[in-house]
Order: sequence, then C-alpha cells, then structure tokens
Amino acid sequence: MTADGALPQTALDLPMPDLPPPGLPMPAGPVMSLPAWSYCERRVYEAERKAIFFKEWQFIGCEKDLPQPGDYLATEITGWRIFALRARDGSLRAYYNMCSHRAAQLLEPGKGHCDVLRCAYHGWVFDAEGRLKATPHFGEADWFNKKDFPLTPIRIDSWRGLIFVCLDPAAKPLAESLGALPDLVAPYPIERFAKLDEASFEMRCNWKTYTDNFAEGYHIPGIHPGLIQAIDFNGFETTFADRVVIMKAPQKNGSIYGGIWLWIWPNMTLSVYPDGMNTSRILPLDEGRTQLIYNFYFADLSPEKLPAHRQTIETNCGIVREDFGICEISQGNLAAGIHQRGPLSPRHEEGLRYYHHRLRQALAGVGIGGL
Ligand code: FES
Ligand SMILES: [Fe+2]
Repeated sequence: MTADGALPQTALDLPMPDLPPPGLPMPAGPVMSLPAWSYCERRVYEAERKAIFFKEWQFIGCEKDLPQPGDYLATEITGWRIFALRARDGSLRAYYNMCSHRAAQLLEPGKGHCDVLRCAYHGWVFDAEGRLKATPHFGEADWFNKKDFPLTPIRIDSWRGLIFVCLDPAAKPLAESLGALPDLVAPYPIERFAKLDEASFEMRCNWKTYTDNFAEGYHIPGIHPGLIQAIDFNGFETTFADRVVIMKAPQKNGSIYGGIWLWIWPNMTLSVYPDGMNTSRILPLDEGRTQLIYNFYFADLSPEKLPAHRQTIETNCGIVREDFGICEISQGNLAAGIHQRGPLSPRHEEGLRYYHHRLRQALAGVGIGGL
C-alpha cells in the first residue's frame, strides 16, 4: 500500500493485450493472470460447466480398461454422471448414468462389469443399445410404450487407445478436437502401455488453481525438493501449441522424468516416458474443490518390474501432494479479496498464458467478461 492507503497503480490497471495465435512472439505489454474472483465465484464455475465441460471432448480412460462386452467405466463431469460401456459387437457406447424413469443412476462410479443394465431403484432394465427392455411391476397403461424411454446417449470415440466422451451433440468430431496432441505423441508407443494403478485425490482449491500449477515448472525448485534433484532446471522449457502446453526437462542420471509432460485443453494431462506414461483428469467438483484422477501405465508389467513401477507411482503421488499444499494456500489467498492479478513469467508461465487465453475465449461466449 502507498502512504495514503491506496493500492499502488501497477500493470493491473492496464488493458490486457490480445493474445496472438500459437507460435507468434509475445505481445508487448503486461501479461497478467486471471483475476482472483474468477477462481472463487460460483457463477464462473457454472459458466465453465456450460462453456467448457459440456462442450469439450473429455478423456475418461483407456480402451484397455474395457476389454470385454459388458465392461464399463462410470464417472462424472462437473455434475453430469455418465458411463461408457463395451457392447456385444465390440463397439463403445456411452450414456448419461441416469435412468429414464425417475433419474436414478444405473451404475456405481468406477470400473466394473455388468451383463444387464438394471436400475436399482425400481428395477427397470436396459440393453447396451440403451433400449428399455423391462419395467417390472410397472402395470399396464395404453399411453406407455417402452421404446419412448431409452437411455440418453452421449458421444464417445477413441484415439490411440484413449477414450473420450463429449456431451455436446454439436461439437466437432474428436479427430478435429485434438489440436497438436497427435503430432506431439507420435514418437511414443502409447497403445502398448498397460495400466497398473489409479490414484484419486481431492483438494480444496479451484480447478484453475491446480491447472495453473500443472502448466508451469517455475515452482519446481521451491516446492519439489526431490524432483529438482532429478532434472536440469536450467534446461526446463515450456511452450504451447494448439490445445497443448508442452513441458520438457532434461533429466539427470536416467531419472524417471525423461520424456514430455503435456497439459491438454481443457483438463487432461499426459506425461509420456520412455517406458510408460501417466494420465490425469482435473475435475472441478465446485468452485472450491477439485478431484484429480491419475492413471499409471507401463510398457512392461512383468513381476520383476513391479517394485520399480510402484516406486515411480509413489514418487509421482508425492509430487502431486506437494502441489496440493501450495494450491490450497494460494486458493485461500485468492478468496481473501486482497490479491487481484499477478504477472506471468515470459520464461516459465507461457502455459498459463495460453490456458488463460482459452478460458477468456470460452467464458466470453457465456457472458463472463473482465477476465
Ligand atoms: S428410477 Fe430407475 S427404475 Fe425407477
Ligand atoms: Fe508441481
């Protein structure tokens, strides 16, 4: 504060420059983070649900998670419960996890197998094509026809073994929505990697607070004492391309961190190493809570390799926990009403600049300005 108690005039008060397309040099002038209120307000979360999570393809898991007919994966996308199911013909189907009678959920969240889709509430039965097949004890009525009450389908597609769903019937096909991801991952045999484990975390911060953290390596020396030993921080590079933030860190002594770390708009991460990969989904639960679901995959799951893989997973989870701590503290200060915006590093926070640009674009379309 200045002597008269006013907040100092800083770059905060200058108009934000327009962001050039990916690949062009930084514009002149200040590059500032999103305003603190956008990390805290319910109306922003509701706008993000409509403008982003309903409209964008969402990674939910791997084809290898659903090998047999009847295998399913049930999850939630900002309040929309959905499931993906392997049908008898081998194709993937996806529906809202919502019975057409009185909206109970059909499947418990998580991965499982079901031969019959039977609602636990009143026993209605659906087939894998979403058709209503049985309505036990419903009674007879001339106005009621089972074919009028199917499950509500959603779009599902896969790319190189990764399954995506999209709630918006009008969205572009998945293949046109992956941006630079296919080219970046082309050198890596990701289909060969098999899942070993999953880890789920819940943190008390807005999903953007955690995403900001993921999309920069600037904090590694301060927050990750183990990780900083394993990489050459002076060679850490952050760039962005269409829909993707790319982080690369030269590794020391054959550590597990060699490869690329990708963040993919709007809420997926994919880190690929020579002998495996991990994926994560950054799932907003509301404006102040976020769930993070990590999956760990390896090229070789033979028993002699497992102890090393377990160690890799534990190391990764330890790093994630280190991130939570600092994100929850930042969230508290973002909510406290003093901080407004912070300047973004041209050396290390290009990923945030790109992410914030996408958010500004998406949210302007649903009436959230001033970002
Ligand atoms: S809500 Fe599913 S059978 Fe009634
Ligand atoms: Fe981190």
